[in-house]
Amino acid sequence: MPILVTGGAGYIGSHTCVSLLKKGFEIIVLDNLCNSKENAVKCISRITGKDVPFYPYDLRDKESVRSVFEKEAIEAVIHLAGYKAVGESVREPLKYYENNILGTLNLLECMREYGVRNMIFSSSATVYTGALDKASAKALTEESPLAVTNPYGRTKLMIEEILRDLHQSDPVWNIISLRYFNPIGAHESSLIGDDPNGIPNNLMPYIVQVASGKLEKLNIFGNDYNTKDGTGVRDYIHIMDLADGHVAAMKKLNDCGGGFTAYNLGTGQGYSVLDIVNTFSRVNGVEIPYVIAPRREGDVDTCFADPFKAEQELNWKAMRNLADMCRDSWYFQQSIS
Ligand code: NAD
Ligand code: UD1
Repeated sequence: MPILVTGGAGYIGSHTCVSLLKKGFEIIVLDNLCNSKENAVKCISRITGKDVPFYPYDLRDKESVRSVFEKEAIEAVIHLAGYKAVGESVREPLKYYENNILGTLNLLECMREYGVRNMIFSSSATVYTGALDKASAKALTEESPLAVTNPYGRTKLMIEEILRDLHQSDPVWNIISLRYFNPIGAHESSLIGDDPNGIPNNLMPYIVQVASGKLEKLNIFGNDYNTKDGTGVRDYIHIMDLADGHVAAMKKLNDCGGGFTAYNLGTGQGYSVLDIVNTFSRVNGVEIPYVIAPRREGDVDTCFADPFKAEQELNWKAMRNLADMCRDSWYFQQSIS
């Protein structure tokens, strides 16, 4: 029986679909294409040689979501659809609450109506960042305090709480929340990757556009953080490792009879902005001009995962290194330039 992947045409969704299909799962994609292109779905088919039923529907339109459940015998849902730009969420909070929360509620109501109780939810390391002690640089476990600093993060935390309540109300609900750290890179085919609209907010999409000459230089947001070289430290993870994490989580869901559990998907290794710039230049032979700019509001010094729980319980571990991530990000950018 197929898995419904909401947001399956997006960056993480498309790679996750490839991993699932390669491991023999059947999938259906629902995506309103507000931040992606239908071509991504075609590329998933091209990479895997499998058909991918596609519904260009909006989760906020409950009737169209219901029609998918009516037509397809869905076994589980991987829910990635949502908005994700932190700065925009501060400017337009209602847009974020409407899309991320209402979309999720519609989806959950349809799942309940059609007896589908298995879900993997795309959460984020952002659920920890509001509680981070600036002075310390400890790995984050799933037990670390949760707090957020912006409406985007609040939607992630709220949805986790909704899912926890749902499981409490009916223990048959079987839910895994995956807290992603910083996915970068692309599938080795370069057919799919991260291709944001407009000027990128995130580091790697910005770097590749500097490398290709589309943008003039990188602004490094602060070099006075309490880190080894003063620039922010994050846990970058190859997108295909992250995608494989969903396959591991889906296997785990199939083995357990109900619950709500969160897992960090990260490598456990922190790299600074300068580490990324230098590794990118070394691996790809391209200089990245940069200037030191003021800190970006809401940024923290250091944020990296303790991935132990996922290793133990999902039998999953990130395998690719930073050089792989930089190389694959650059190959993809060249393929679309
Ligand atoms: P993305 O924007 O590439 O993918 C999200 C997809 O959801 C897009 O294809 C978009 O068209 C679709 N979508 C949005 N609202 C929709 C709606 N109402 N109905 C149907 N489709 C809708 O983003 P991504 O990087 O692939 O992120 C996927 C999920 O993972 C998001 O929920 C995001 O918050 C979360 N996440 C991402 C990161 C990251 O670094 N990329 C980190 C942590 C968490
Ligand atoms: C950001 C979001 C986070 C979200 C994640 C994935 C913020 C505060 N956090 O994480 O909630 O889950 O994206 O969408 O926006 N940097 C630069 N120059 C740039 C871009 C980034 O120096 O042009 C630095 C940042 O200061 C940071 C690091 O690079 O130290 C990584 O930034 P980014 O890729 O935006 O990810 P996060 O901030 O970790």
